[in-house]
Amino acid sequence: MLMKKIVILTGAGVSAESGIKTFRDSGGLWEEHRVEDVATFDAWERDPELVLKFYNERRKQLYECKPNAAHIALAELEKKFDVQIITQNVDDLHERGGSTKVLHLHGELKKSRSTMDETLVYPIEGWELKMGDCCEKGSQLRPHIVWFGEAVPNILKAAELSSKADIYMVIGTSLNVYPAAGLLGYVPPYVPKYLIDPNGNEVMGVNNLTIIKEKAGKGVTELVKKLMA
Ligand code: OAD
Repeated sequence: MLMKKIVILTGAGVSAESGIKTFRDSGGLWEEHRVEDVATFDAWERDPELVLKFYNERRKQLYECKPNAAHIALAELEKKFDVQIITQNVDDLHERGGSTKVLHLHGELKKSRSTMDETLVYPIEGWELKMGDCCEKGSQLRPHIVWFGEAVPNILKAAELSSKADIYMVIGTSLNVYPAAGLLGYVPPYVPKYLIDPNGNEVMGVNNLTIIKEKAGKGVTELVKKLMA
């Protein structure tokens, strides 16, 4: 039997109940830093130690976090649907929640990559990435994160996946950051779409959108129950 395809775009809000802060709910500061001081290539060139320290802290925190009810419910969906997650998050909570197909748009906190050859990507053992940690070609390793101003290599794949959805879900994202925010535009108009976010609003030009103004833990669990019934 051919399974229906559910494509799910997630953002920081899906991990909020696991204890990871969202970006735009924290008054412009992100864990006490301005984004341009830690999450741009300029920041890396100016002060790589600060950037490494910032991401080391995020990684350390991630080890203390667990997937929440929303991550777990999304993994449940795989029993009945072909489920593809597209996440803007750099945490690994979807994977730890049991989801098997997760496309990361903005990189992964638990990986590093070479500053000389972007195809060289490595898992980070433990929480710390240091100055002097090098790739096999001898250049410094950087966090495997897509910083502001950098290209998003997985966006074409994400757009193609979005165009093939039978059901689309958007969870916990302010839809402020492009190109990810534009993915809804690739979903055919007749496809049912659900937006789960306590601050969710209509999206211009998007049809068939049901807005569920709940936190992910409750909103996703209830929607999954309905879809599985
Ligand atoms: P934002 O911080 O912009 O938006 C978080 C969204 O989650 C908001 O719409 C909140 O209303 C919602 N939210 C808060 N708590 C929630 C909960 N418990 N359940 C569900 N929703 C909740 O985060 P993103 O949209 O993910 O990029 O931000 C996009 C990108 O901007 C991030 O990937 C990051 C950031 O800068 C990089 O790091 C490259």
